[in-house]
Amino acid sequence: MQMSYISQEKIAEIRDNADIVEIISNYVSLTPRGKNYFGICPFHDDNNPSMSVNRDKKIYKCFSCGATGTVFKFVMDYENISFLEAVKKVADSAGISVDIGAIPKLKNHSKLHEIYDLSLKFYLNNINTSAGKEAREYLKSRGINDAIIKEFQIGLALDGKDALAKLLFKKFDEKDIMKSGLVNKNAYGFLDLFYGRIMFPLCDLKGNVVAYSGRIYNREDNSKYFNTWETEIFKKGELLYNYHRAKDSARLNNQIIVMEGFMDVIRAYSIGITNVVATMGTAVTKEQAILIKKMAKEVILCFDGDEAGAHATMACADELLAIGVTPKIIALTDGLDPDEYILKNGDEFKNLIKNTMNVMDFKLNYIKKGKNLNNTVDEAKYVNEAIKEINKINDDILKELTIQKIAGETGLDEGVLRSKLENKVVAPKVPKKPKIKMNKYEIAERNLIYYMLRYPEVINIYNTKVTYMPTAEYRLLAREIKMFYQDNGFINEADLIDYAECDEDLVKTISKVEEANLKENYSKEEIDDYIKTIKDYNVKNEVVRLTNKMKEELDPLKKAEIAQKIIDLKKESTNV
Ligand code: GTP
Ligand code: MN
Repeated sequence: MQMSYISQEKIAEIRDNADIVEIISNYVSLTPRGKNYFGICPFHDDNNPSMSVNRDKKIYKCFSCGATGTVFKFVMDYENISFLEAVKKVADSAGISVDIGAIPKLKNHSKLHEIYDLSLKFYLNNINTSAGKEAREYLKSRGINDAIIKEFQIGLALDGKDALAKLLFKKFDEKDIMKSGLVNKNAYGFLDLFYGRIMFPLCDLKGNVVAYSGRIYNREDNSKYFNTWETEIFKKGELLYNYHRAKDSARLNNQIIVMEGFMDVIRAYSIGITNVVATMGTAVTKEQAILIKKMAKEVILCFDGDEAGAHATMACADELLAIGVTPKIIALTDGLDPDEYILKNGDEFKNLIKNTMNVMDFKLNYIKKGKNLNNTVDEAKYVNEAIKEINKINDDILKELTIQKIAGETGLDEGVLRSKLENKVVAPKVPKKPKIKMNKYEIAERNLIYYMLRYPEVINIYNTKVTYMPTAEYRLLAREIKMFYQDNGFINEADLIDYAECDEDLVKTISKVEEANLKENYSKEEIDDYIKTIKDYNVKNEVVRLTNKMKEELDPLKKAEIAQKIIDLKKESTNV
């Protein structure tokens, strides 16, 4: 576990004073049902209220995907921030004052992250050298000032072909360097992937630099932008440009604007629009759509004002509609992208944000293009395509308004149009959890821990009787429980989770244990039974190990010794 910068008592105080129901309500709407509150789980693709929040236990749990944790874990995962940042956020919204000081950035453990940290320093430095003059001038000519360069950590890969590779080889192994996607190997040696390009760092959801996109500025090249290839830490389809900078502002404004390019986002910043992300020019993936959905209720798409941009808008809108988000659209014209529009019209862009188009109007315009509605064949095509689009939306009122619009345009009877609509009966998704097959040892471990989480006596029994949990995840959890109890003299789920700073793996194991749903009270016999099962397993393993050892042993005396050990072990296991 990492050292906490706040005491455990303070963390518990914040958690106990912050109402988990109230805090989670800031993110998803909850409805009371029985003792608990229910809402749609934001951690998987869902439309049903599978997530329950228990105010007394101070725990939330999704019955569909299994996500579970305390209020801190919720905020951490929702906002993709660290444990301490989440503690600070919860404390703030509950009006509890805490002094955490500067929250340390989560240290990146992987070598790849370290390689990226070093490369960033290198690229940032380059742009300020005399060799960076031309790049600085290029940026200036595009109206990008020093403050923006700093904010977006824009750097420069110089013309030399192996400057970065040389630097990296001083500190890192070839194996790691090759995994970073920053260096290529050919017959002549190691070459930088990027040279003569202005470097835009791409960050993961937490704000760590995990890749680059480099733009040419002083020469011809087939590709205007060039990206790091995908690595262990960079999956293009899972992140959005500027996500970590935009998320707070999107929450505050309850609005997120989605654009295509980095330059668009950067330009929007220059007129003070900060709730903006970019898809980076490729088709929006389902993961990205879910991210966008989480950022804010109101989603505005503002893609390039050309045919490609309109096509991308249609595709992105469909991805969003499929997960229940009805986006609004800013349709730029004359082939302008947001960057160019803002350069030309400045703050006028803010009026476009206030006067968005509804997605169906955009779609109708789109499918109308190239069709002559006075021609019956075209008209029929138009109506059929329009019906298809209407079937994609969930919003009944928007459906109805669109039907009326089409009827007005074509003179067709509304009833006829309506009869063409699919009667989408949304079957409630039955949460399907893959049944995990557990052997009897795992079940014994899980059940034992289930009661350890509830009864100190069981922890004591565990301490005296079980020497070793065979399964790694249960072993770690049992150890954590034991340590927590030693330090605190009591045990409960919420405190334990926060004690472990919402450690991902530990919380997963706890969630798995909780799924056992055993009866509240335990009997001594049950516990003994679990312990016997675990011991049997250990003995069996040990017997196998010793038998193998015996086979290899040449000294007859030692052989006999081992044989005796095996006999003793077998005896022991029958009378635990
Ligand atoms: P500028 O020309 O610098 O203003 O860029 P832009 O934002 O106008 O770029 P454009 O609209 O052409 O493309 C939008 C986004 O698509 C860019 O921000 C990039 O993420 C991506 N993109 C554009 N061209 C390329 C390319 O040649 N290769 C790759 N990998 N991505 C590109
Ligand atoms: Mn552009």
